[in-house]
Amino acid sequence: LAAVRPYHQKVIDHYERPRNVGTLDKKDKSVGTGLVGAPACGDVMKLQIKVDEVSGTITDVKFKTFGCGSAIASSSYMSELVNGMTLDEAGNVKNTTIAKELSLPPVKLHCSMLAEDAIKSAISDYKKKRTSTQ
Ligand code: FES
Ligand code: FES
Repeated sequence: LAAVRPYHQKVIDHYERPRNVGTLDKKDKSVGTGLVGAPACGDVMKLQIKVDEVSGTITDVKFKTFGCGSAIASSSYMSELVNGMTLDEAGNVKNTTIAKELSLPPVKLHCSMLAEDAIKSAISDYKKKRTSTQ
């Protein structure tokens, strides 16, 4: 057996007990869905947010990631981080914050980029839905 590169404990924890795995109703007007892929490896991440229209804050987050352990850990951590944030705050979360928290090595940086792309895509989907339905 080839030696397996040791992952940081936080990656393993989020990988083994991912937070907020699941799906929100796409048709719900208060839900934004982001679906993004990583060209480098073909991994796919779906991240959904539920937004309270009055306060403009995120009240629920769900994700499904088909990808490597770092991508799953990145989406799990992102889902915890943005819950309770305003859309502006969530849109400003950088992949480097996630990579730092999870101590991702350089070759795994694009896995955290997937999480940044996914939250941005979910926010723009939510905004698009809001403007097209009133
Ligand atoms: Fe293998 Fe991402 S490259 S899971
Ligand atoms: Fe491609 Fe992690 S998302 S290797």
